[in-house]
Order: sequence, then structure tokens, then C-alpha cells
Amino acid sequence: MSAVGHAPGKVILVGEHAVVYGRPAIAVPVWDTVATATIEECPAGSGCVIIAHDIDAQVELLHAETDNPLALVVRLTLEKLNLEPNPAWRIEVSSDIPIASGMGSGAAVSAAIVRAIYQRAGADASPDDVSRVVYASEEIHHGTPSGIDNTVVSYGRPVWFKLGEAPEVFETGQPFMLAIADSGVPSPTRETVAGVRNRRERDEAAYLSWFDEIGEIAHRARAAIEKGRMQQLGELFNRNQELLEQIGVSTQLLQRLIRAANRAGASGAKLSGGGGGGNVIALVTAETAKPVADGFRAAGARNVIVTTVGSD
Ligand code: MEV
Repeated sequence: MSAVGHAPGKVILVGEHAVVYGRPAIAVPVWDTVATATIEECPAGSGCVIIAHDIDAQVELLHAETDNPLALVVRLTLEKLNLEPNPAWRIEVSSDIPIASGMGSGAAVSAAIVRAIYQRAGADASPDDVSRVVYASEEIHHGTPSGIDNTVVSYGRPVWFKLGEAPEVFETGQPFMLAIADSGVPSPTRETVAGVRNRRERDEAAYLSWFDEIGEIAHRARAAIEKGRMQQLGELFNRNQELLEQIGVSTQLLQRLIRAANRAGASGAKLSGGGGGGNVIALVTAETAKPVADGFRAAGARNVIVTTVGSD
């Protein structure tokens, strides 16, 4: 019998980068894009092979390098569940989450694999169990991730995240819509995080106050989401974007996309994730979703996803 696991894409609503320095941030899952992992039994003794169609990878668990993220996820999960180290399995992963766009495709693939293995073992995977393994794979890609990406794809719900504290899942006062534009430029998170670190060392006082204000925005954004105050949330997106520009992670292309969204009627827009490329998110309504998506495309977006947050 085959086992299957799923995990969603994600976007960060507010607080990226400052979250690395202990300020709170909010991330939401994007269930319109998912990663799926399935496990099929193979003839005894054939060992475990992981096949990732989207990145054209085929990994034999026994021979994989220690820093292969797919193999690492499988090994850690097998260990955690006290399963044999090289089971006769074919693990296939596929995902329609855009790769390297800041939507957490790597983290979601890892989370889907962990869930499939737990299902195959007949065990319940708590979000924390999944998140811990996914964090280890994120370390390979990003160096020193804050942990927000693995948390949101593992919980699959809006999360309030602060380093060193247990993540909080929270409810939206009313569902809201986001248009997510892929700039088509990969988001080099490792580099943008390192860039912020270097600039901060040269100008600590300024970065401290920008991070503090971003943290304040996260608090106000959570209250706005819980109370269904969308106009306010849009204004907070715009202010957060100004601060992301100050800390040097925005680009001309991202700003062009943001201006296009706001001109087309978005309540607010900002880059989401590491910046330098990746995604822009715009807060939209049923009426403004299409004009904003069209505006994004006309301004150069490679792909646009419209999603509803908090609708389940
Ligand atoms: C990347 O999705 C979010 C950053 O804040 C980095 C991190 O939190 O690890 C830029």
C-alpha cells in the first residue's frame, strides 16, 4: 500500500529579515500550490531511492552525500521513527510550488516527505516533529534560517513566529485575498540575509530602529488580521516595504511590481521573503484581484497566484 504526504507553499506577510534578529513575523500557507510525496514498496533488498521530478533528481539513499537535503530528510525521519536505515522504498516527490521564488518549495517538499514516512509507519506527525526535520534541510540551503519557513509549511496555518518562542497558530477575523507575483528572478536568501548582516554591522543604530519598527508592524498586522481590518493591513504592508527598501533587500523590479499593484487597486503591497528577487504580495479583494494580477503581469511578473488566506 502506498503512503502519501502533502505540504503547502508559503509567503511571509510581514517581518522578514527582522525575524532573524528576534522580532516577530507572520507567515501564511498557500494551499493553492502544494508539494506531494508518495512512497511505494519495492522488492526486498532494493534499497531506498528518492525521485524528485521537478528538479530532475534521483537519489539513492545509501550512496547520497550527507549534505543532500532530500536524503537528510529521509534519514532523520527514519531515525526518529526507529525504522531500518535503508528500506526498500521508492519515494517520489512532485511540487507545483515555483522553485527558488521564496514560496518555500524546498521546505514543502521536505515536509511532504516527512509526512509520507510517518504515514507509512502508521505514526502521527505533529507539526513540531515535521518542522524540526525540515529545519535541518533548510540549514543546508540557507545557512542560518530563522525557522519561520519550516514552521509555516509544517503547521499549514497562519503562524506568528518569534525566535526562541513556540510558534503560535492564529485565526483570521475574516478570510482575505493575496495576489502573489513571481518576479522571475531567483531569491538568493542566503546572500540577502548575509548582506543585511554586513550592513547592520556598519550601522547598528539605524538597523536596530528599522528592525524594531518592523516588529511593531508585525504586532499591528496580527491585530488587523484577527479583527478583519484589511485597510489597515494594506497600510502596514506598504510601510513594511519602505523599511525593507531601507535595509537594502528590495530591487527596482520588485518596486515596479509593487507600484503596479497599488495603482491597480491593491490595499497594499510588499516584497515577501528574502528579497533580491522572489515574490511580491498584494492585498486584494474579489474586485481588485484581476486588475492587480493583470497589472503585475504587465509590469513583468512571470507568474501570478491569487490565494485566499483563512478560508477553511
Ligand atoms: C526567508 O523566507 C525569510 C528571511 O527572514 C530569512 C529567515 O527568516 O530565515 C529573509
